[in-house]
This record gives sequence, C-alpha cells and structure tokens, in this order.
Amino acid sequence: MTVKAREQKSRLDPEPMPRRDFLGLSAIWAMGAALFFSLLGMLRLPKAAVLSSPSKKFRITLPKALAAGEAYVPPGRAVAVFRDDAGVHAISTTCTHLGCIVKPTTEGFECPCHGSLFAADGSVTRGPAPRSLDWLKVQGSGDAWIVDEESRVPPGTREQA
Ligand code: FES
Repeated sequence: MTVKAREQKSRLDPEPMPRRDFLGLSAIWAMGAALFFSLLGMLRLPKAAVLSSPSKKFRITLPKALAAGEAYVPPGRAVAVFRDDAGVHAISTTCTHLGCIVKPTTEGFECPCHGSLFAADGSVTRGPAPRSLDWLKVQGSGDAWIVDEESRVPPGTREQA
C-alpha cells in the first residue's frame, strides 16, 4: 500500500468527530440522564416514606389456661393483661423512667434497664422510676378483649369477665 493510498480516504471510513460536536453530544446525554433521574425521583414522591404504625387499640384472646394473677403479654405489645376473680385488667409494660419494657415477674414487674421494681398493681417498689405503671382500658367478655393503649384508667379498675 502506497502512502498516497493511505492518505486517500474511503467513503466508508467514519468522519472524525469534531471536538465541538463531541462536547455538544455529551451535554445532551448529561441533560437526558438528569431528566431521567429527576422523573424517577418524582415517581417515588407519592409513596409514603414511613411505615404505618399498628393501632393502639387491639383485640386479644386470653388463653383459657391463664391462671389468676398470671400476666398475658400479647406478642409485639407493651401491655400485660391479667384475669382474676375481680375481672380483667391491663397494665402498660412501658417503664415510667425512660420507657424500657418491663418484664412481668411473680411479684410484679422488673425493669431490665435501670432496675426499677413495680408491685403487681404497677406501683413503684424501687426506683428510679418516678411513678406507677399505667393501667389501660380493656373492654370485652369471655376470652375476647379489646385493649386500648391510649386510654388510661385509674389503678384498680377492672372489667368484669
Ligand atoms: S427505664 Fe426502667 S428503670 Fe430506667
């Protein structure tokens, strides 16, 4: 192949892209990508970014084998429900100190965080908890009950079974 033949361009050879055209095409591609991602972001906007929290009022079924004075803690709830001769009552298991979940014991409740102790009626027997556990409203009959975590009732309030 001669030098002249090498210098001769074929009509099939691609034209080298001028720098100005290359920069122009790059800008168009960048704008297209920005538009695409902004549209993608807008499509996600209508969706809620948080999960709905479970209702504070919920149904429970008391186990038939629940002994008098024994705590029933519904799964995933911060409530202990009791059934005895006087009726059914619910006590919040949220510690009044800093909000840890207290554990029912044979004598009452114990907080695993800072060691507060509560009697079976929720009253404080050892601090640092500043006040008693809240009693919560329960409604129902038999084994089917509705507990309302947002409605407090005076300590000692029981619903007849
Ligand atoms: S959170 Fe229960 S004692 Fe501190």
